[in-house]
Amino acid sequence: YIDKVKALEVFDSRGNPTVEATVILSDGVSGKAEVPSGASTGELEAVELRDGGSRLDGKGVLKAVKNVNTEINDALHGLDPFNQGHIDQVMIDLDGTPNKARLGANAILGVSMAVCRAAANETHQPLYRYLGGTDLELPQTFHNVINGGEHADNNIDMQEFMITPVERTSFRDGFEKIVNTYHTLKKILEDEGYSTGLGDEGGFAPNLNSSEEALQMLHDAIVKAGYTPGKEIAIAFDAAASYFYNKDKKVYELEGNTYTADELGEYYGKLLKEFPEIISIEDPYSEDDWENFAKFTKNYGDRVQIVADDPVCTNPKLIRKAIEMGLANSILIKLNQIGTVTETLEAIRLARKNGYTTMMSHRSGETGDTFVADFTVATNAAELKSGAPARSERVEKYNQLLRIENQLGEDGTRLAHFPNDVDFD
Ligand code: PGA
Ligand code: ZN
Repeated sequence: YIDKVKALEVFDSRGNPTVEATVILSDGVSGKAEVPSGASTGELEAVELRDGGSRLDGKGVLKAVKNVNTEINDALHGLDPFNQGHIDQVMIDLDGTPNKARLGANAILGVSMAVCRAAANETHQPLYRYLGGTDLELPQTFHNVINGGEHADNNIDMQEFMITPVERTSFRDGFEKIVNTYHTLKKILEDEGYSTGLGDEGGFAPNLNSSEEALQMLHDAIVKAGYTPGKEIAIAFDAAASYFYNKDKKVYELEGNTYTADELGEYYGKLLKEFPEIISIEDPYSEDDWENFAKFTKNYGDRVQIVADDPVCTNPKLIRKAIEMGLANSILIKLNQIGTVTETLEAIRLARKNGYTTMMSHRSGETGDTFVADFTVATNAAELKSGAPARSERVEKYNQLLRIENQLGEDGTRLAHFPNDVDFD
């Protein structure tokens, strides 16, 4: 049974405070987890409890830490660590708000993940095996190699420009192709006199003038690295359009141009023609503009994967609404947007049962914790975005997938292929 739950304030990859939770079982076995944190957060995300005041710019998490050490510890003492659903429900009830605002989603998620780890350790299994059983597959990974929007101080308003391996013989083979393309991109940027400084997710943050230029850079890097765009390496982007939407005027203000919703759709259409290797677009419209988001899916959903992030925030209630109106055809999954392991599993199941693909995601503020890598394999979520192959808090997720591939062995290893098979349990 659970003997003790405790937390510590530690720091994330942006130097902001975050929660580390530890769960100790009655026989002394324990599990630990660190909580990530976003910058371009959806309005309806579960609440990250921050202290306010002057200490650490108001971003301290000592209140969340205290909630773990006191109330959550008291509530979980004596419970069965293998009953994840019950433990998560106890914390949801104890919090008592619809968005985990009282105890903090950072407090609750840290404990939820640490319980999982402790239970896996108790059974002497790796986390992905404890959570996922057998018949597991390695995901297709999406690597954000040019950072814009809220993740970098440059002129690019769209947030993430990603490359993803399509044809590959193993997870390692695909990852090597990504690494080669990343290094080639760096050379191109150097040759053209751009900065090769990195943004929050390990991608380059050059001062390009437009998103179109960023896509052209990716295209050139893929070719120069010796690959065929669309065949071996494809392209995806996260527009994160909530951040360039003018709510009052109901227009999109992108890199010096103003677009109506229809004009923005035409612009995306032009990009899709110009770059046939684009296979996935995330948040093409604002979280406040479901109607045009759905219209875009109606027009382009057969051509490209359309991922909903900010509008649904990994929240099963919002995902249900999205499915009803045909908002997208894929859901982005972030553990800390909803705040427990159990609810995240419910979100994945709901999406897949309704024919939506799922893309698991890190946050722009990350830690060394590789929970999300194991979780992706365990749920056969098929897709994962975890940033560029640079900066340890990003690369460690991919290193963990290389370890898992190695453990599963050549024969037992299945690879997710795009578009992923949406059958789920
Ligand atoms: P965030 O960015 O972690 O800053 O929210 C990720 C995303 O928008 O997908
Ligand atoms: Zn996003």
